[in-house]
Amino acid sequence: MPAHPGPQRPDDSARRRGRLRPAAAAGSGIHKPLPPGLFNIRGTNAETVPATLRHTGYHTPNDRFFVRNHTTTPRLSAANWHLTVWGDGLRGAPVRFSYAQLLALPAVTRAACLECAGNGRSYFTSQQGDDVTGTPWTLGAVGAARWRGARLADVLRLAGIRPEAVDVMPRGLDDPYVDDGVDYGRVRRPMPAAKALDDVILAYEMNGEPLPYDHGYPVRVIAPSWVGVASTKWVGDIEVSDRPLSSPWTTEFYRLFGPDHPPGGAPMTVLPVRSAWELDAGTALSARVTHRLTGRSWSGGGGVARVDVSTDGGVRWSAARLLDEGCGDGWVRWETEWRPGAKGPAELLARATDTAGRTQPDRSVPNTQGYFFDAVVRCPVTVV
Ligand code: MTE
Repeated sequence: MPAHPGPQRPDDSARRRGRLRPAAAAGSGIHKPLPPGLFNIRGTNAETVPATLRHTGYHTPNDRFFVRNHTTTPRLSAANWHLTVWGDGLRGAPVRFSYAQLLALPAVTRAACLECAGNGRSYFTSQQGDDVTGTPWTLGAVGAARWRGARLADVLRLAGIRPEAVDVMPRGLDDPYVDDGVDYGRVRRPMPAAKALDDVILAYEMNGEPLPYDHGYPVRVIAPSWVGVASTKWVGDIEVSDRPLSSPWTTEFYRLFGPDHPPGGAPMTVLPVRSAWELDAGTALSARVTHRLTGRSWSGGGGVARVDVSTDGGVRWSAARLLDEGCGDGWVRWETEWRPGAKGPAELLARATDTAGRTQPDRSVPNTQGYFFDAVVRCPVTVV
């Protein structure tokens, strides 16, 4: 495990060398370079091009990891940063932790996927004809990283969390989110104290490096297997409450609304099962040549147990070869071979089943904001 390099700014050296940021990043509010071949820029967000993961290992390199920002990436200093834990769910007064104090706590490392609940949203429209709002992600709003940090449970216990505490709400230090003239305040979302005390990390490292600015430097929450919005970046304070808390991120956004959901909407916590081919839609593949095709599957509800693939639009299916053990918070890489005969258009499908027995359906239950698209995605290719 590499030693933590300390509270330096993550890419001082690049700035010193005067490296210019590619024009593609201009206006997005994202700090890191966003080369067009690696990212699709979507407003204040950047989507990893899924096909490019074919050339990476298990973990998504920091410079290829998707970014989902409500506003812009703040460039905070670890030396000036502190975390305040406060609220009536504590035994006493607010408690402050500096960056150095957090680093001095026992460290845990966890390989976990981080995924936006809206990943795959564009397929609601293109595959199902559903009318949804929000960023039209394909399948690149997901990545897996090695997160290192302190257990949130340790911090909450040091702060004096009471057994009666029911909810814990981290809040980010990025600018307040304003939409359509409404100021919703800073990004914040409560989670049950039981989750906070279970597996949540206050991460300060990503893949062995200090968190990059865009991914929450100096410290972010990582809530494994839950919707990405639960993983608050640039965390500045955490409210601990002995009553249930709410925020617009649980009552309005990141909530399932629509005819197939309860009248007040349904809450969102654990991520669904999904799969992606590491192939651009529309890729040309030669006929009568054996191709090694690869992809990844993941699930918030347990490891991936099997992946079935179809190269004829879903008529016949066969099991893909899994290249990783399906672990709860991570993903599984897989491969299959295909020797297409006839020239012309074809569709590749991948369908995963997790260890909890959940299988990707043919059709996702629609919701107005287009979350949790878990249906099998049809990847069009052309045999030439
Ligand atoms: N935390 C803050 N403070 N501000 C944000 O905009 N976006 C959330 C979450 N945490 C967000 C945040 C959402 S919706 C997602 S999917 C993840 O961060 C994205 O993390 P990443 O940008 O590191 O990939």
